[in-house]
Amino acid sequence: MQKTLDSQTFKTCDAASYNALTEQFDFFTERLSSSLAARMVSLAEIGSPHSVLDVGTGTGVVALQAAGKIGAGGKVHGIDLSEEMLATAAAKAERLGLAGKIEFSRMDAEELKFEAQTFDIALSLFALLHFPNPLMALREIFRVLRPGGRLVVAVGSSPPLISLSGLIHRFKILPDLLRRSQGKQLVAPNFLDSLVERHLPETDEPEESHLASHSHNRTQGVAALVQSAGFKVLQTDWQGHQAQLETPEEFWEIQRTFSSIARKRLAAAAPEKVELLEREFTEKCRTVQSRGGNLVYPFAAFYVVAQKPE
Ligand SMILES: C[S@@+](CC[C@H](N)C(=O)[O-])C[C@H]1O[C@@H](n2cnc3c(N)ncnc32)[C@H](O)[C@@H]1O
Repeated sequence: MQKTLDSQTFKTCDAASYNALTEQFDFFTERLSSSLAARMVSLAEIGSPHSVLDVGTGTGVVALQAAGKIGAGGKVHGIDLSEEMLATAAAKAERLGLAGKIEFSRMDAEELKFEAQTFDIALSLFALLHFPNPLMALREIFRVLRPGGRLVVAVGSSPPLISLSGLIHRFKILPDLLRRSQGKQLVAPNFLDSLVERHLPETDEPEESHLASHSHNRTQGVAALVQSAGFKVLQTDWQGHQAQLETPEEFWEIQRTFSSIARKRLAAAAPEKVELLEREFTEKCRTVQSRGGNLVYPFAAFYVVAQKPE
């Protein structure tokens, strides 16, 4: 059921929900999303001396790769609402010797504190679905891009209904569907989400934005939003991936970090309830593994490359 969204409450809760899990978030993001960040940077055609904005930067996986590509005089600015994510991103920039080329600020994507036409390029990976009003965020990005500036935005989504990549994907997962029907595969985040839905009551706080909960296929909706904000869509692309987790502990960690429903409901639950749930989770994983089965986390990105008209 879709709860009424008080957007300010939603934003505060969403950002805060990452604070206690920043280390895990960064670990899994570096492992899973580095190649996706590289694809974003390549689609953006970053050169020097570009000025780049990364919206919903998290621990900076995209911003840091962009900073690595930018020549002398270029600058990257990553914004997010989570203090802990930003602190981790800044520490990574320092470690990588990129601190001079990159800045991180706490800022709401729906209310950017930049002058109009400040940036040449805007990037945003896996963040749009977290905004209660994604169109407002896209309009803000449009405002702060210079005419001719490029946007590359990517969201998690099932494949476009009619597409070659979708067709190939559906063909490739046939063996997985068989394994699942034989009880030889557990799939994240549905596995933990279903246990959480069964054992833990919904909290009063909204767990997902309307765009995220509306449908798993966000391809048409996101491209339409980008257009509504004033951009010309140049290219779209969907790519699916799958990570295999070796242990039930890792499988638990990745889901409670990346699933908004699990992250928020587990954080609000009594520790003894979480412990019981984790025990049931682990036992089911072990049973599947003892049959020769595996634990998988499928994930996908739908990329939209767009331009602000000259
Ligand atoms: C799934 S994470 C993606 C982070 C990063 N782009 C990545 O791919 O690793 C979503 C991020 O959006 C941030 N976020 C949520 N609402 C926001 C808002 N209104 N303005 C800016 N950032 C927001 C969250 O704090 C979180 O860091």
